[in-house]
Amino acid sequence: VGSASFVVVANRLPVDRVTEPDGSTDWRTSPGGLVSALEPVMKSRDGAWVGWVGSPDEDVAPFTHDGLEIVPVPLSAAEVRDYYEGFSNGTLWPLYHDVVAHPEFHREWWDTYVRVNRRFADRAAEVAEKGAVVWVQDYQLQLVPQMLRERRPDLRIGFFLHIPFPPTELFQQLPWRREILDGLLGADLVGFQVTGGAQNFSRLVRQIGHYPTQRGTIELPEGRRVMARAYPISINTQDFFDQARLPETAERAEQIRHDVGDPTYLFLGVDRLDYTKGIFQRLRAFAELISDGLLDADDAVFVQVANPSRERVEEYIRLRDDIERLVGRINGEIGRLGRPAINYLHTFYPREEMAALYRAADVMVVTPLRDGMNLVAKEYIACRQADDGALVLSEFAGAARELRQSYMINPYDINQMKERMLEAATDSVRNKSRRMRILRRQVFEHDIDRWATNFLDDLGSCTRTR
Ligand code: G6P
Repeated sequence: VGSASFVVVANRLPVDRVTEPDGSTDWRTSPGGLVSALEPVMKSRDGAWVGWVGSPDEDVAPFTHDGLEIVPVPLSAAEVRDYYEGFSNGTLWPLYHDVVAHPEFHREWWDTYVRVNRRFADRAAEVAEKGAVVWVQDYQLQLVPQMLRERRPDLRIGFFLHIPFPPTELFQQLPWRREILDGLLGADLVGFQVTGGAQNFSRLVRQIGHYPTQRGTIELPEGRRVMARAYPISINTQDFFDQARLPETAERAEQIRHDVGDPTYLFLGVDRLDYTKGIFQRLRAFAELISDGLLDADDAVFVQVANPSRERVEEYIRLRDDIERLVGRINGEIGRLGRPAINYLHTFYPREEMAALYRAADVMVVTPLRDGMNLVAKEYIACRQADDGALVLSEFAGAARELRQSYMINPYDINQMKERMLEAATDSVRNKSRRMRILRRQVFEHDIDRWATNFLDDLGSCTRTR
């Protein structure tokens, strides 16, 4: 039994290692929203964060960073391959995203997933004080709630799934469906991005668990209750707005527009380079708008930022090749000298540059085939300084449930996507501002602090029946 009264368990730690100019290394708090939302809770409640350092074969002792207790979990190279690249991102990720890529099922991957989940659960059990609150994050750690409860029945355990929870028809493919279900049911509260996910989960609990459920409450035979509910995640809205408001951001946004040739319409896409994001479809739609003569290559430019991601996983290697070949072909066919139709950037930018890009964009294009939430859509809205700009959004993003005033598309329907992209660009100022006003209000009223508070309040009020 440890001394932390609030423990976060996530695959990744909230710190990144940085190398100083003199060659020494140090830690820096990661820029993510989850970290900044949980930081105040962690600091006020003696918090600890259990997670993987991010590189193989490294055993770092627990340390304190900026008031946060950091508890690293080591993974060997083989475990990174089988637990992270394999079961998490080669099996669960495609399966949970509507099998838009083919999930692979390998027994060795599963065995490693179990072993690594056990290691995370053990670390959490060691650092949590009696009666502590433990919040487990995401699909990489679905067995942790049950493993933790077996060792520490005194804990209050929450779980939040950041990605979609699939329909039972797809989930049933998983040879270890029963184990995953039981793993999740170790929690007191299981949170999902949207109600659809919570409903899929409840249906699964009835079908393969044979437990009764009523309005999101699951009754387990041992007399314990588990709640399943939706908590749509968000961003630090005010931070994005403030960053975008700075005069240097405005200047940088102007510079960006100038650098891409002062177009009338600057379209922007920002994604982790992932096959769930619909990048291919979106770039094709844009190219067709130009080759059809509906947009003029002198007036319209697409900027696509693709953040490098999971670069050793086969499907991601293939996707990158496909996209880069497509970009090359489009630019070869419709680009002009010194002026490509698509500015493609395979890189990651800091918050300052992102805010400038969002400010510079006339139309933000978010077209995932399936997405748990999609925070990029919310970041774009948060960075608007007035009720201008336009968001094209896939109905298959979790964010579509909240951001109903966006220009909604089905990413599989290229013709509709073309129409809506064109409409978003050329719509009247009046229509655009009516939509953006409502979108901005939504994103300001539902920020990530509110998300964390709602989840933790509900977790705190879960009835303990044992
Ligand atoms: C998604 C997942 C996160 C994950 C992130 C980045 O948002 O829900 O759990 O951390 O992608 O992916 P990575 O594999 O680099 O951690």
